[in-house]
Amino acid sequence: MLLGVNIDHIATLRNARGGVDPDVIAAARICKDCKVASITTHLREDRRHIKDKDVEEIRMLPRVRLNLEMAMTDEMQEIALRLRPHAVCIVPEKRQELTTEGGLDVEGQLKRAIEFTKPLLEKNIEVSFFIDPDVHQISAVSKTGAPFIELHTGRYSEAFGTGEEEKVFEELKGAAIFAQNFGLKVNAGHGLNYRNVSRMHEIPNLVELNIGHSIIARAVFVGLEQAVKEMKALCEGVQNV
Ligand code: PXP
Repeated sequence: MLLGVNIDHIATLRNARGGVDPDVIAAARICKDCKVASITTHLREDRRHIKDKDVEEIRMLPRVRLNLEMAMTDEMQEIALRLRPHAVCIVPEKRQELTTEGGLDVEGQLKRAIEFTKPLLEKNIEVSFFIDPDVHQISAVSKTGAPFIELHTGRYSEAFGTGEEEKVFEELKGAAIFAQNFGLKVNAGHGLNYRNVSRMHEIPNLVELNIGHSIIARAVFVGLEQAVKEMKALCEGVQNV
C-alpha cells in the first residue's frame, strides 16, 4: 500500500502563533524525500490550518503529487480547476467539527456530485469521494464517474482493540471488496496509527492510505523524516526501518 501524508497539522501548529514556523513547505519536502505517494492537505472553508498559499506552493513543488481534500462547494471547485492538483478527495465539512467526522452523503446529493465531478475529470484530476463503508454510498459514487473512493476508517480506529473491532473491520473490508466489484479503486484513511494500520494489509487491493495526525504526533518525538519512514514501512509491510 502507498502512503499519502496529510500535513494539515503542521499548519495547525504554525497558525497557533501566527508566524511561519513550522514551515509547511519544508514538511512537504521532507515527505517527498521519503518518497511518499502523495502530500495531502485539506483546504477548509474557514482556512483553520492549510491556507491557499500553502496549497499553491505545494502544487508548484517538483515531483510532489498533491491530493487536495476539499468540500463540495463552488469555491473549492474553482480552486481545484485553477490549481489542477493531481487528485482531489471530496469530503464533508462542518464548521464546528474538530476533524472530518463522517463520510460524505453522496447518495443524498448524487446529481450535485455528478455535476461537481465532471469538470474535474475533464482536467484529468483524479477524483475520490470520502465515504463511510456503506453499500449505498459506494453505489452512488460509482455513478459519478469518479475512479476512487476513500473509505473512512474512523470507526475501525475507534473500535481497534475493543470487542467491536472484528465486526467493524469486517464491514470495512466488505465495503472495500464491494467497491472494487463496481470497478472503483479504494483508498482509506482517518484515525490510522502505528498500531492499527497493519490490519489494512488484510483488505485486498487497497491503493493508498492517507494518514496525518499519528505521523505528525510521532514526529514531535522522533522527527518528521523518521515518523514518515516508519509509517511508510508499515504500509509497505516492511519489518525494520
Ligand atoms: N483522509 C481524509 C479524507 C481526512 O479528512 C483525514 C483527516 O483530515 C485523513 C484522511 C487523515 O486522518 P488522520 O489525521 O486521523 O490520520
